[in-house]
Amino acid sequence: MRRTLVTGALGQIGTELVPALCERYAADLVIASDVRMRQMPPSEAGQPCSSASCQFEYIDCTQPHQILEVVRRYDIGMVYHLAALLSAVAEERPQITWGVNMGGLWNVLETARQYGCAVFFPSSIGAFGPSTPRDDTPQTTIQRPTTMYGVTKVAGELLCDYYASRFSVDTRGLRLPGLISYTAPPGGGTTDYAVEIFRQAIKYRHYTCFLRGDTQLDMMYMPDAIRAMCELMEADGDRLSNRNAFNISAMSITPDELASAIAARLPGFEIDYDIDPSRQAIADSWPRSIDDSAARTEWGWKPAFDLNAMCDDMIEKLSTHARLPKTRRPE
Ligand SMILES: NC(=O)c1ccc[n+]([C@@H]2O[C@H](COP(=O)([O-])OP(=O)(O)OC[C@H]3O[C@@H](n4cnc5c(N)ncnc54)[C@H](O)[C@@H]3O)[C@@H](O)[C@H]2O)c1
Repeated sequence: MRRTLVTGALGQIGTELVPALCERYAADLVIASDVRMRQMPPSEAGQPCSSASCQFEYIDCTQPHQILEVVRRYDIGMVYHLAALLSAVAEERPQITWGVNMGGLWNVLETARQYGCAVFFPSSIGAFGPSTPRDDTPQTTIQRPTTMYGVTKVAGELLCDYYASRFSVDTRGLRLPGLISYTAPPGGGTTDYAVEIFRQAIKYRHYTCFLRGDTQLDMMYMPDAIRAMCELMEADGDRLSNRNAFNISAMSITPDELASAIAARLPGFEIDYDIDPSRQAIADSWPRSIDDSAARTEWGWKPAFDLNAMCDDMIEKLSTHARLPKTRRPE
């Protein structure tokens, strides 16, 4: 069996995808890589480091020879290409973002073309824009994003389509919503509030949110997202007609709703708001809810976690593993 390479493996998704792949296949069939070096001490949540059980290689995705060398050396047959700069960071550094997000994807696709690898590309709800229908956003619709992050995601979807049709590279992808997880901190996205709120709620019973309380966005708990990535890559390719950018959804929530669900479990929890205009503008250009019927029909997508199930699990896991003091935040 050929091996699987994960780029950007030390980020929020890779930290959970790598152990999941090791469990699904075998640790010696998975190669984790990142432009950062792997930290061996346990992470903040008290979990073992993401890729501790498998081989780790330094790869800067903007350097094509580094990808090529690892793919050749390990006989890689599948690449989960997670390396990217996220939405809030991308608005601060648009030029660098183009180089990492587009240059990195180009290098991965070129390597895949030469070595016959399948490629997973994580697109995003950021691939939509203000002119997209914001409720129940269809699978195929207007995509005119106004952020550099969104521009690279739409261009990435198209580039993956092109490599599939022109060079028969088995590219597949998901338009991921905001992801909520407890293992690794989020990497500078617009939906980071939905992760920070849990840590602050457990630690201080208080959170100051950078989005308006009524900002409705699609969210998903990380175990659902990891399962979706694995199931899509294992799905029968003949059944996929939207291969490179499936809408997937699990819950559509606001900061107010999330805060109420947390307060119901952590009495005394309070939220207040200090709006970040830059991230609010990004959120206001994204869909409020997504139609994921194509994913459900073509490869059987079904989320396991709704808002309540996610909150129960997040609070239990963070309280158990993080050993955060349940004291009030110092004034
Ligand atoms: N987390 C989410 O909510 C979310 C939602 C939708 C889509 N996505 C997409 O999923 C992918 C992974 O997201 P994440 O949340 O894990 O991001 P993250 O920021 O937590 O991790 C990205 C990783 O990429 C690495 N990286 C950056 N530049 C690199 C380079 N030049 N070469 C190699 N590695 C590099 C970083 O060191 C980091 O470990 C991204 O493409 C992101 O756009 C994430």
